[in-house]
Parts: sequence; C-alpha cells; structure tokens
Amino acid sequence: MTTSIPHGGTLINRKNTQEQLTDIQTRIEVDEIAISDIELIANGAFSPLTGFLNESDYDSVTKHMRLANGLVWSIPITLPVHDEEAAELQIGDKAILHYKGEDVGYIVVESIYIPDKEKEAECVYQTTDNNHPGVEKVYSRPDTYVGGPVTVTKTIEHDQFSKYYLDPEETRAEFKKREWEKVVGFQTRNPVHRAHEYIQKSALETVDGLFLNPLVGATKADDIPADVRLNSYETILKHYYPQDRTFLAVFPAAMRYAGPREAVFHAIVRKNYGCTHFIVGRDHAGVGDYYGTYDAQKIFREFEADELGITPLFFEHSFYCKKCKNMASAKTCPHDKEDHVILSGTKVREMLKNGEMPPEEFSRPEVVKVLISGMKETV
Ligand code: ADX
Repeated sequence: MTTSIPHGGTLINRKNTQEQLTDIQTRIEVDEIAISDIELIANGAFSPLTGFLNESDYDSVTKHMRLANGLVWSIPITLPVHDEEAAELQIGDKAILHYKGEDVGYIVVESIYIPDKEKEAECVYQTTDNNHPGVEKVYSRPDTYVGGPVTVTKTIEHDQFSKYYLDPEETRAEFKKREWEKVVGFQTRNPVHRAHEYIQKSALETVDGLFLNPLVGATKADDIPADVRLNSYETILKHYYPQDRTFLAVFPAAMRYAGPREAVFHAIVRKNYGCTHFIVGRDHAGVGDYYGTYDAQKIFREFEADELGITPLFFEHSFYCKKCKNMASAKTCPHDKEDHVILSGTKVREMLKNGEMPPEEFSRPEVVKVLISGMKETV
C-alpha cells in the first residue's frame, strides 16, 4: 500500500466526457505547452491545481513558491492568450479550449491579467536571458494570462506508446497491486545512461520500487526525441532491471529547464503519481551554466518535510571510474579526474548522430544501438 497523500490532500479529476460544449461561444487556441498542462491538471498530476493560475496564485507562486493559500508550488502554470482572444473574454465566462482543430474542454474565466514576464523569468529561472530555453518560451508566448478552473470533455489521445500514458490514479493502483510501500520516482529527459542507472539502483536498494517517469512533453530541439528515448527505456529495463521492481510510465509535461524550481515541482508531481521518494542528482532540470551543480538539491532546504510530503534523495555527480572499475562519485572514489569517464550531453548527442558508440562505461551498448538507429530515422 502506497503511503503518499496527494499534494493538498485530494487527487483532482477534471475530466467529464459527458459534458457538452454547445452553449459556449468563445474559443481559446492553446499551444503545445498549454495542452500538456491541461492534460496534467485534468488527470490530477498537478493536484491541487484545478486549472490555470489566477493572478493572486501566480504572484504568490512566482515570488514565494507557494499558492496564495500557502501550499508549496514552484512553477507558474499559466494560460497565455492572444490579445484578440483576451478582448472577447469576461470574468465568469466559459471559453472552449481548442487545440489543433479539436475542442478539448473549457475554462471558466476567473482572472485576466498582464504578467510581469521579466519578474517571472528572474524569480523562476534566475535569469532574464532570452537564450535560456524556458525564458525564451515565457517571452514568446502571448502577453495576457487567463486563470480559472478547466474541465476536459474529450479524451486526449496519444497515438504512440499509449500504454505508457497513465493517470496518477492508475499509477497509484499499480504500486498498490505490486505492494510497494516506498516508491522512488525518477525524472529524465534523456536516455538512461550508466550514471542514471547507478543512482536509480542505489535508491532502489533502500525502497520497494522504482518509477521511471520520463518527461515526454515539449523539450528543446536538440534533446533526444521522446519516441527514440522510449524505445531505449524499454531496452534497458528488459536487459538490466528486475521487472517486478521497476515500472515505466511517461510524464507528458513540457520541460521548463528551470533547474531548482523545477526540481521541487517535479518532486511534488511525482508525489501525486504515488511516489514517496524522488531522485535529485546533478544539475536537475538544468541547462547550460545557469544553475550550480547542486542548486536543485539546496532549494529543498527552504521547505519543511511535511510541506513537501515526498522525500528527496540527493545524489552526487556520478561517473564510471577506470581505477575503481565501478560507478562512483566524488563521495566514494579517491582517484583523479583522468580516471573518470565523463561526457557532456552535447558530446553524446553528437556521437549518436554520427553513428558513433559512446564508451560502454558511459552507456549500455544495447541502449546506444537503439538510440543510433532511432536518431537516423529522425534526421
Ligand atoms: S533532467 O533535466 O530531466 O533533470 P537528466 O535526464 O539529465 O535531466 O537527469 C535526470 C536525473 O538524473 C536528474 O535528477 C539529474 O540530476 C540526475 N543526473 C543526471 N546525470 C547525472 C550524473 N552524472 N550524476 C548524478 N546525477 C545525474
């Protein structure tokens, strides 16, 4: 039986496929980030959110990492709308949420406001630099935000890998069926390399199950595409993980690259999926040099354990050491840097694109083969 309680106490469900949208006149065209947020609000992964943040929650989350009621929440979940659409909206109205030719549900407009985007960037991303992929998204999306509860009236379909799209209610049921009391969640936007495997298995030594929960929503263009990654996860799980101790499902969120703030958000969401523990390693959700290697761990000191309700498990930067002949970290290995096999993400992606195998100490050959053939197909 899993012991994790959803954030705020109740698992939210904002799906109602019985409801008709016929009497609603106004439409809001939503983008790729918003549709993934809508899906995660509706299925309860973003509990206690019932919709997009209204102005007071937005201000509070941006400045204090808390909703207006004090509950910890570190990333603003917002619905930016174009000026022409905003001009049509009144507080109290319902507006249809429309994505790629389909009406997916509606929002009850509770708040219409113009955000201070520089402030948002500075507080959430710690930079106003437009080269930061998360900041760039904040700036390039429309300038008016609309807040209010959403209801999804149409099942959001996923053609590929549909079996890995599970709602928090379903992952919780799965953990219960497996009789896992302690479950560690793992976020990634990359293939599982040896360092990931090492920290996952180190964590697994002390809990009952590992929930591999790769993010498959919008990522920056040079990240490895989700479909290629999913093939690689299936491969590594098959060859190197005990089936009865690991469970794979996707996290259909957009990547924000907000480092520390996103680590807190990632942890809370995994609590909603039923995890009791969450792995935070080196530069979690970071990009470039915007964050310090362990900033995403230090941020957890700002909260009391019971405010988060999920235990973060911190790991040092890990690598293979040729002298130890083992995976290790600065905490466990006394040897020099020259003995450590460390490759940057950029270098690895470059090798894979060129069909070159990264060393076995960095990535399992079975995984590399899947990645190389997958990358060829996507080029
Ligand atoms: S993330 O953007 O999703 O965080 P990534 O897929 O690289 O990126 O990382 C997944 C998790 O593994 C994060 O918690 C990250 O901190 C951790 N991690 C990645 N590489 C290492 C490493 N070499 N040593 C320790 N932790 C790592």
